[in-house]
Parts: sequence; C-alpha cells; structure tokens
Amino acid sequence: MNVEKIPATEGRFNLSNYDEVYANFDWAEVEKQFSWHETGKVNMAYEAIDRHVLTDRKDKTALIYSDLTRDETYTYAQLSELSNKFGNVLRGLGIAKGDRVFVFMPRTPELYVSVLGTLKVGAIVGPLFEAFMEAAVRDRLENSEAVAIITTPALLPRVPVNELPALKHVIVVGSKDELAEGQISFEAAMAEASSDFEIEWVDREDGMILHYTSGSTGKPKGVLHVHNAMIQHYQTGKWVLDLQEDDIYWCTADPGWVTGTAYGIFAPWLNGVTNVVRGGRFTPESWYETVEKYKVSVWYSAPTSFRMLMGAGDELVKKYDFSNLRHVLSVGEPLNPEVVYWGMRVFNHRIHDTWWMTETGGQLICNYKSMAIKPGSMGKPIPGVYASIIDDQGNELPPNRMGNLAVKVGWPAMMRQIWNNPAKYQEYFHIPGWYVSGDSAYKDEEGYFWFQGRIDDVINTSGERVGPFEVESKLVEHPAVAEAGVIGKPDPVRGEIIKAFIALRAGYEPTDELMEEIRKFVKEGLAAHAAPREIEFRDKLPKTRSGKIMRRVLKAWELGLPTGDLSTMED
Ligand code: PRX
Repeated sequence: MNVEKIPATEGRFNLSNYDEVYANFDWAEVEKQFSWHETGKVNMAYEAIDRHVLTDRKDKTALIYSDLTRDETYTYAQLSELSNKFGNVLRGLGIAKGDRVFVFMPRTPELYVSVLGTLKVGAIVGPLFEAFMEAAVRDRLENSEAVAIITTPALLPRVPVNELPALKHVIVVGSKDELAEGQISFEAAMAEASSDFEIEWVDREDGMILHYTSGSTGKPKGVLHVHNAMIQHYQTGKWVLDLQEDDIYWCTADPGWVTGTAYGIFAPWLNGVTNVVRGGRFTPESWYETVEKYKVSVWYSAPTSFRMLMGAGDELVKKYDFSNLRHVLSVGEPLNPEVVYWGMRVFNHRIHDTWWMTETGGQLICNYKSMAIKPGSMGKPIPGVYASIIDDQGNELPPNRMGNLAVKVGWPAMMRQIWNNPAKYQEYFHIPGWYVSGDSAYKDEEGYFWFQGRIDDVINTSGERVGPFEVESKLVEHPAVAEAGVIGKPDPVRGEIIKAFIALRAGYEPTDELMEEIRKFVKEGLAAHAAPREIEFRDKLPKTRSGKIMRRVLKAWELGLPTGDLSTMED
C-alpha cells in the first residue's frame, strides 16, 4: 500500500521504540500495581476510586459532569463516599457478590455512583442504553436474572417488573411522586445510608460487568468481564490514551456501550485523572463548548461523531478554543482518512484510531501518539497482545492478504463468558488457540492492520452493533409484515444505516403511511437506533431452500453487485 505516513508526535508513554517494548513486555509487571499483588484480593472500585483517596489525589476532581441543567464536580473523596453509601443501600437489600444489578438511566453522576457502589458489593453491573424500549430491557434482565435495577421515572415504564420473577428491587433516581409499593427512592435511601463501608474483596477472575451486544443470529449476548480487566484498562490508559496526572479527559461514549465503561469509567479513574461526562444530546456546539469550557486535553470519540462535526464546517471550529487539547482518539467503526486529515487541519492533531470489541474488553490494535500513523489503518497491536490474519484453518497469512482478524487467546481484559450460553462463547474460539473476531482485515509489510469489513451480517450503524435477526424478528411481529430481511447499507455519516426489505401479508398495500408505521413499531418496540431508516417493499424475498432469508443477496441487489452463488436459493 502506498499511503502517506503522518510522523509521530510526542507522547509521555513513548512507544517510538515499539518493537523493543513489544518484544520484552510482560503483563506481570503491570499486575504489581494492584492490591491482589499483596493481598490476593482486589476490587475495581477500590483501584479506580478509593485507592486515590489515600494519596494526594484525595481532593482532586475525579468527575466533571454537565448537561443543560447541571454543572457539577466531584472529587475522588466524594465519589468514594457516595459509592460507599450506595454500597450500603445495596447491601441493606441483601444484594451480594455475583448478583446482577442493572443501571438504566441517562448519564448523570448518579449513574456513576450506582456503577461504583454495585462493584463495591461485588455484584455484577449491567449497563443499559437509555434508548432501550421494553423488549430490549426485558431480554437482558431475563437472560441475566437480574435482581435489581436502578432507573429513572421516565424510563421506569419500560421495565416490565411483573414479567421478571428474579427482579426484586427497583431503585428510582429523581422521583418527585410517591413511588409504588416495593420501589425505592435513590435519594431517600442515600440520605439514610452510612458512608462507612467494608468493600467486598473479590478474586481477579470474579464477574464485574455484563455488556450485551448483538450477533448475526439470536438474541443479544451477555458478554461477561471480570475484575482482572483492570490490568489492561490501566495500561492502555497510558500507552493509548497517553493519560498524565494533569489531563482533563473526555470520552464521549455512553456507558451502555463498552467504550463508556472501560474508557469512560475504568481507564481514566485507574489512572487518577479528571474525567469529563457530558449528558444530553449531541450538537456540534455543545461538544466544542465542552472541550473549551473544561479545557479537555485528551478526547476519545467515534467516527460518526467526528463526521458530524466535520459536516458542521471548519468555521464553527474557529469559534472555540482548543489550545488545551493534546490527544484525540477514535473507536467503533472505520476511521476515514479524510477525517484524520480534517483533524489535523482544524485541531492541529492527528485522530488516533483504535480497534477492539465488546468481547475483547479493552483496546487491542491502536495508533500511538509516539508512532507514525497511516490514515485508514487501525495501527498495531498493543504490547502483550499477538494479533494476526488467519485463514479458516488457522494458518497465518502473509502481509497484504485479507483474512480473519484473530488474536492469540489470553489477554487480561478478554471476556470470560457469554452469559448462560457456553456454546456461543466457544464459537469465538473454534480455531484452537485463537479468538476469531468476525472482522476481516489485512496486515501490511510494516505490521499495520487495515480493517476490511465484518464477515457476518452484523450492522455497524454510528458505531452501534445491530443484529439483523433482532430487527427482522421485531418486523415480523407487525401484523402487515410477512417476511423481512435486514442489511447494513453504506452511509457517508453513519457508516451504515439499517435497510429493511419487507414482503407484506395479503391484504396490505405498500404505502408511505405503512412504512412510517412499521418504522415506528421497531423504534418503540426495540430501540430508536434499531429502526430501519430505509424500507423497501418487495413481493418476495430471496430465501434458501431451508427458508433462511439470504441477506447476502439483498445486499448485492442494494449495491448493484453480482449476487454470487444462488444454488441454495429456492425458486
Ligand atoms: O467491526 C468492528 C467494529 O466494531 C466491532 C465491535 O463493535 P462493539 O463491540 O460494539 O465495539 C465496542 C467498542 C470497541 C468490531 O468487530 N470496530 C470497532 N473498532 C473499529 C471497528 N471497525 C473499524 N475500525 C475500528 N477502529
């Protein structure tokens, strides 16, 4: 490949001698940072928050929170105390190690206190996007047999309490009205709780967080991560985020997504920096304002957001002060080279792409501040991780050959289970010794990795993974829909948008009103981001003889490409 290399810049955690660090690195050195090294026991909430309270960082700002109505800061000591209190609230309810506790609310300080308090009792936290509708909430709580949920009055109607026998406790944040029997007011419980708390020390392999994510078939999978992941969160906070003591760091991701926890909670706080959280909706103005007002120095976001900012124009950028910004990163979808060049033009910073997945628990292939980057490339594996391109038999392929992006098993943050589904878990490891990502990529002669696409049908819209099967299942619940096939259609801003092909039941006419109604049906039943932006009615959909919708053929139709082998298609 003939691409321009953008030279290295200066980073504190110098990886300009990458080859040497890579060759000699041992995770055991990083482990010495944490309490289990001496005591055998650990807890993420202790390492991320409480530990700093015993140092000069005690009164340092840990969290800067703002939205349209709130503008607040919390020190490490305050977060420690608040999460102690919430730990006592949970413990008072009998919630203990290993229990599943969900948080279902918009980004507010209470969300972060809830997550930390949950970890402090040793329970497993399950974060949900506030955009989820009832069916999505039910699937996740049911699958994990959650015992408690922390939510808000606005979202409470989407929690089907009566249909979830395991769910014993509903804690409501910010309720102004009388709560129903069995519901607990967060504020009232916190007011009564003591701030003295004995943290639950756990083993490094004990469950910590459960993130649900989509595959191409079946319901969302519960990806379980353990406390051990902290080793990688901490170290990538240095190598990749380049975090330093005086950094003001902003990760724009919602904690419903793994980026919003691993790099919106754990990595920054394990490294003791000041973490910015911006609530409310995205607008280019409010994001630029956030960078300026809080003097953000390290900024981690996603290609869709950068493309929307780019679309808002260079003139807007000039109205804001970005002089404190020193490092910009991206994750979740392919980062287009033109976005990298735009970043250099308007912020005077390269945007550093990082590749990883919900399942990998932490960053794996990245561009580093102190290394030359090739725009369009995901970069190189972090030290301590061996990534490669393999064929379907597990043979490693030479440079510039496209194949399965795979990682040798055994990095610290790797998922440990798919909840309740060992068979699904095993599917990732069907080639012995390798975690097979489901992405296709190639590696160039210099060891840079280049993303090519997904091997399965999973759709990546604005960085969010959407399983086509889940959307199709919802679509066919609509009385007018006989069959549905869902694909990702390339889109300049969102990466992909969801397009649905629908065959109607007899007696229904393909009208614009019906299209709108079906879209609304998915939006209200599943989630706004899962609703098809485009719908096309067809008399019949291409299916295999066994009745499976052939998404590959739909995609070829859409893109005007050859349909390939049709031997398994029914007449
Ligand atoms: O296809 C890859 C894409 O997003 C998938 C992972 O999605 P999710 O688990 O929701 O992401 C969690 C956050 C890391 C991958 O299999 N993806 C992620 N990062 C990149 C990417 N595609 C291209 N370039 C990236 N940097």
